[in-house]
Amino acid sequence: MASKPSERFVWAVDTLAPDPTDRVLEVGCGHGVAVSLVCARLTSGRITAIDRSKKMIEMAGRRNREHVAAGRAVLKTVALEKADFGDERFDKVFAFNVAPFWLQPKEALRIVRRHLAPEGSVYVYWDARHTHPGGAHGLADRLSERIRLAEFSVDQVLVKDLRPVPAVCVIGRPRACLTNGSGFGWDRAGVSRFQLLSDAQWSLIAGMLPGPTGRKGRPFSDARLMIEAIIYRYRCGIAWRDLPEVFGPWQTVWTWHRRLASDGTWDAVLERMIAAADASGVLDWSISVDSTIARAHQHATNITRDTGGFIELQESGHRAA
Ligand SMILES: C[S@@+](CC[C@H](N)C(=O)[O-])C[C@H]1O[C@@H](n2cnc3c(N)ncnc32)[C@H](O)[C@@H]1O
Repeated sequence: MASKPSERFVWAVDTLAPDPTDRVLEVGCGHGVAVSLVCARLTSGRITAIDRSKKMIEMAGRRNREHVAAGRAVLKTVALEKADFGDERFDKVFAFNVAPFWLQPKEALRIVRRHLAPEGSVYVYWDARHTHPGGAHGLADRLSERIRLAEFSVDQVLVKDLRPVPAVCVIGRPRACLTNGSGFGWDRAGVSRFQLLSDAQWSLIAGMLPGPTGRKGRPFSDARLMIEAIIYRYRCGIAWRDLPEVFGPWQTVWTWHRRLASDGTWDAVLERMIAAADASGVLDWSISVDSTIARAHQHATNITRDTGGFIELQESGHRAA
């Protein structure tokens, strides 16, 4: 009989919370402990579990013989980068302590992205068995950064105090609706209309923006997604409430914008961009002055004048406050 599953797997599958009909993919399933726990929650759903080690898949197969026979679990000896999932799309993809998600997150998540269902999410778990600066929270920050590097937005970060070591989970989704190459969100060249910053552009300002709060039970928004939503809104000249759903609730984006305006972040970002452009010689400081004279009808001369003017929240902090 299989031994009692360790706490970390129980926690992981609790957070994964697969629906009975879900299609789940586990990458690097090892002994297949999580596979058994997931199968216990499935009815018509199915888990595909892969591991590049034949030995591991054999052990996982022994542990999950009944589930495999019932068609609830499919186990394959294959590395993620070589796997062929055909047309299969997964509602949830997870991996616990699997090196490519730390070492080559872009490559690993590019493959995951291709096989995620439209509303699908990836759950990357890591335990803090090695000491990390900042402990488990530091580990969570670094793991989140890797997930973002791979063009995923971070929906939630969980830190769990487990024995013998704490563990973290970062839950992400392909950024800005990059769920597949054909549907909503992509233009004909295969580039997302909603992904507005290159990695290089983002790296210039990322450090100036608010990071994760790490507060328990309060998922935070992904800063890059928020900034892209704000850029998108100005680029298109639309009302806040007309922001496409891929950016999440427009109220959250508006709140970010207001906060960045009133705490001076936008001013600081502008200063940094001007300094960077100046340093690389792409700015010339000539100013173009033009004037237009428009004759107003005499009726226009006696309306009430409000010299305060209308301000947009991207203006200086003291005006927006
Ligand atoms: C540290 S073990 C973790 C196993 C299990 N997830 C756990 O938490 O106990 C990492 C596992 O991932 C597998 N693995 C590493 N790189 C892989 C890849 N590129 N594709 C599939 N499996 C991989 C290894 O063979 C190993 O079984």
